[in-house]
Amino acid sequence: MSVQDQRPDLNWREGGIPVSQRFDDPYFSLNGGLAETRHVFLAGNDLPARLHPGFHVAELGFGTGLNLLALAEITDQPIRFTSFEAYPMDLPQLEQAHAAFPELAALAAALRAGYSARRFRLGQVEVELMIGDARDLLPQWNGAADAWFLDGFSPAKNPELWGEALMGEVCAHTTPGGTFATYSAAGHVRRALGAAGFAVTRAPGYAGKRHMSRGVRL
Ligand SMILES: C[S@@+](CC[C@H](N)C(=O)[O-])C[C@H]1O[C@@H](n2cnc3c(N)ncnc32)[C@H](O)[C@@H]1O
Repeated sequence: MSVQDQRPDLNWREGGIPVSQRFDDPYFSLNGGLAETRHVFLAGNDLPARLHPGFHVAELGFGTGLNLLALAEITDQPIRFTSFEAYPMDLPQLEQAHAAFPELAALAAALRAGYSARRFRLGQVEVELMIGDARDLLPQWNGAADAWFLDGFSPAKNPELWGEALMGEVCAHTTPGGTFATYSAAGHVRRALGAAGFAVTRAPGYAGKRHMSRGVRL
C-alpha cells in the first residue's frame, strides 16, 4: 500500500465528528464518543478494576486514539497498549478530532507529540502503533493482550476487520482469562468470536443500542 492509499479521507459532522469516506461510517458515536468509549471498551473489559503493572490492552482500529486517551486517563499503573491501524490519520486530522474533547486536551497533545514515532509513552501507558492491515500484522505479532478493544467500523461496512480468521487471531493473541469488548452485537461477529475460543455474552449497548458484546477467553 502506498502512503497515498493509506491516508483516510474524512468528512466532518457537526460537533467535530470525523466520518470516513472510504467506509462511510463515523469514527465514534454521534451521541458522545467519550461516554461510548467508557461504556463499551473500559467497562466492557472491567477496566480499570483489572489493571495491574504490565497489563496489556490491544486494539483493532486506532483511528483518532480516543480509546487510548480514555484508557490513559483512568490508569495509574504502568501498562501497555498496542493498536493496529491501516489508514493512520495525519497530525492535523488528529488535532481536529481531538478538539471535540477539551477535557482530554493535555493527554491529546501528548499523544500527538509521540504519534509520529509510533512508540511513545502516554502517562502510564507504553504505546505501540502497528501501521498496516491487521489481517497481515496480527498473525505475526508476538504479543498477547489481557483485554481487546474491537473497534473496526461497522461490520457491514468494514467486514475485513471482523472476519473469522482475524477473530481467531485475536483469541490466539489473548492471555487465558483475557477479555474483549465491542460495540457490535452482529450475529456473525459473535459466532466468529465464540468459534475462536471466547465465551461471548451480550451486555446493554450505549445510547439506545440494545446490545454490545463482550467475552472471556476460555
Ligand atoms: C471506528 S474507527 C476506530 C476508532 C478509534 N478506536 C478511536 O478511538 O478513534 C475504525 C478504524 O479501523 C481502521 N481499519 C479499518 N480496516 C482496517 C484493517 N483492515 N486493518 C487495520 N485497521 C483498519 C480504520 O482506518 C479506522 O481507523
